[in-house]
Amino acid sequence: MRELRALEPDFWRAPSAHNTQPWTLTYAADEVAVGWDPSRALPVSDPTGRDLRLSLGAFVECCLIVCADAGLSIGFHHDPGPLRVGFLRAAARPYETAFTTADVRARGANRGEYQPGGLPAETAERLTGMRRLACRDLEDLLHAADLHQFGDREVTRELRQWLRLTRRHRRYLLDGLSDRALALSRVEAFALRASLALYPALRRLGLPRVLAGASRGLLDYDGDVLVLVGPVDQEVEMGRLLMRHWLTLSGLGYTTHPLSQLIDDERTRAALAGLLDVADPRTLLHVARVGRPKAPAAPSARLRD
Ligand SMILES: Cc1cc2nc3c(=O)[nH]c(=O)nc-3n(C[C@H](O)[C@H](O)[C@H](O)COP(=O)(O)O)c2cc1C
Repeated sequence: MRELRALEPDFWRAPSAHNTQPWTLTYAADEVAVGWDPSRALPVSDPTGRDLRLSLGAFVECCLIVCADAGLSIGFHHDPGPLRVGFLRAAARPYETAFTTADVRARGANRGEYQPGGLPAETAERLTGMRRLACRDLEDLLHAADLHQFGDREVTRELRQWLRLTRRHRRYLLDGLSDRALALSRVEAFALRASLALYPALRRLGLPRVLAGASRGLLDYDGDVLVLVGPVDQEVEMGRLLMRHWLTLSGLGYTTHPLSQLIDDERTRAALAGLLDVADPRTLLHVARVGRPKAPAAPSARLRD
């Protein structure tokens, strides 16, 4: 357990919505409970806990990969309970994985510009559960989802709590979404900070339209969007799968830029399900554009760095 605890900084490289890093590890003599801290959940923008459970699954996968790379034989036992998804316990042999701690460290979201071109068919075929759409086919849907997101006072308020738009923010190096991770210039970060501060006054004067307009054009290029489709009652497992896919892509030089707003809004989620010919829109679990980035992204902050 002591050896496992020493690996925590690498476990923490797992991705989480708004970079809240909601996971907790509670150590006992021969097992570690994997759970979450409710103060790091997103009750307004993630009311069903979908992104929470996907993030916890990604965290579990990171724990297993990092332990295996360190030669520790650790397995995960799915055992949901209050504020808990399961346990890490000693196993007969290390977790079998093609990924390493170096892969976990190298992965990161990239919200900057991507080179034109979609994924090669053989790469897309390796990504079980992922469906592919052309970026341009989702342009209008993304705008509708952004309008919905920024039009919602409470969702915007919750997002604002996790934004770290100036280096003077006291949690800049700990968690949340920094100006650098969001690929914002200083001027853009300042403008976003100022407009969100004035949000209550400007909401009715069209501020949501201005904020949503900022991402107009994001999907106006020849590229791909990936949609993870899977069972709603297995979101932790699906989070583990998502992590493996992100590591596969990152090993091939691709990065992802999640666009969860497309499935957070019921109407755009239903439209997306229609485009994919998926009967139950709830089974759309994650959406991200994918591609070769034009420039590397700044690494995001972690509580354990
Ligand atoms: C389930 C899930 C949903 C996410 N949704 C979004 C999103 O809608 N927009 C976005 O820009 N990033 C999204 N992200 C990316 C996180 O913000 C990112 O993983 C986190 O800031 C840590 O940064 P890193 O992935 O570069 O390590 C999501 C991540 C996860 C795991």
